[in-house]
Amino acid sequence: MGLIDALEQGAKLTREEWRHVLTKRNKEIADVVFQKASAVRDHVYGKKIYIRGLIEFTNYCKNDCYYCGIRRSAGASRYRLSKEEILSCCESGYAYGFRTFVLQGGEDPYFTEDRMEDLIRAVKSEFPDCALTLSVGEKSEKAYRKFREAGADRYLLRHETANREHYKRLHPSAQTLEHRMSCLAALKRLGFQTGAGFMVGSPYQTTECFIDDLQFLQEFRPEMVGIGPFIPHHDTPFAGEEAGSVELTLYLLALVRLMLPCVLLPATTALGTASENGTMKGILAGANVVMPNLSPQNVRGKYLLYDNKRNTGLEAGESLALLKEAVSTIGY
Ligand code: 5AD
Repeated sequence: MGLIDALEQGAKLTREEWRHVLTKRNKEIADVVFQKASAVRDHVYGKKIYIRGLIEFTNYCKNDCYYCGIRRSAGASRYRLSKEEILSCCESGYAYGFRTFVLQGGEDPYFTEDRMEDLIRAVKSEFPDCALTLSVGEKSEKAYRKFREAGADRYLLRHETANREHYKRLHPSAQTLEHRMSCLAALKRLGFQTGAGFMVGSPYQTTECFIDDLQFLQEFRPEMVGIGPFIPHHDTPFAGEEAGSVELTLYLLALVRLMLPCVLLPATTALGTASENGTMKGILAGANVVMPNLSPQNVRGKYLLYDNKRNTGLEAGESLALLKEAVSTIGY
C-alpha cells in the first residue's frame, strides 16, 4: 500500500508506479483503496452527498463519436426542448430540492451562442440561488466567455481519453484531442468550475491510456471528474464491443479521490446502469455526487448514449426520497 499512501499524500507517481497500482489490483487491494478513498471523501465533505439535476435538453449532435448512441449517424429519435420546457424542468427540480441544474446536450447547431446565452440568463434570473452547469461540448473560447458572462458557473467536458492514439480510435478525424484539451484549458481560464473525465473499458483502451488519464487529471486539477463504464449502444460502430468493468471503474474513482481529495466525483448514470447497486458502490469507493434526471418523461427514453440507460429509481429526479433513503442506509 506504499504507493497508495504516497498518492494520498500528494505524490506524483511515475508511469511505472501507476502501472503497478493499476495492474496489481485484486479484491483485497481494491477494498483497502475504497476504504481509504471513502475516508478522504468523509474528511473533506463529511457524510453529505451532493445532488445535481440533469436536464438533457437536446439529443441532436453534429459529432459522430464511435461510442455514442446520439452520434450524428445513429438513428435516434431526435428532440430538443424549448426554453419554456427547460425552465419548467428547473421549476420541478427546484421544488424537489435541487439547487444545481446541469444543462446537457449533444452539439446541436440550433443552440447557437445567442440562444444559449438567452437560455442561461433565463435560468439564472429565475433561479438566482442555483448553480448552473453546462455540458454542451466543444465551443470557441468566445462562446465559452459569453456563457460565463451570462452566468453559467460550471462546465462538464469529459476529455474521454488523454491518449492521442486512443482518442483517434474513438472519434472521426474531425475531432482531435488537441482541440478537446484546448477547450478544457479555455474553460478553466474563464473561471468555470471545470469537469473532465473518461469512460472505463472503451474499445482499444489499455493500461497506458489510464496512466495518461490519471497523469492528465493530476496536472489539470479539474473541480469535477466524471468516470463511468463504457456500455455499448446497438446503433454505433462499437455495438459488438464488450462493456467496461464495474470493478475497474470503482477502482479508478477511488484513485481519483485519493489523488484529488476535494474533487466532486459523481457516481455516474452509466455506473448505475452497469450495476444494480452501482450508485451505492460508487459512493463507497469515494464518489460524492449523484445526478438524477429532470428531463420531461416523454424524452427520457430518447437520450440514449448507450443501451438500457437507466432513468428510473435512483436516477429519477422526482424520486429523490428513494435516493435519500438508499444513501442513508449506507450512512450518508
Ligand atoms: N457508454 C458509456 N458512456 C458513454 N458516453 C457516451 N457514450 C457512452 C457509452 N456508449 C459518455 C461520454 C460523454 C458522456 C456525456 O457520456 O464520456 O462525455
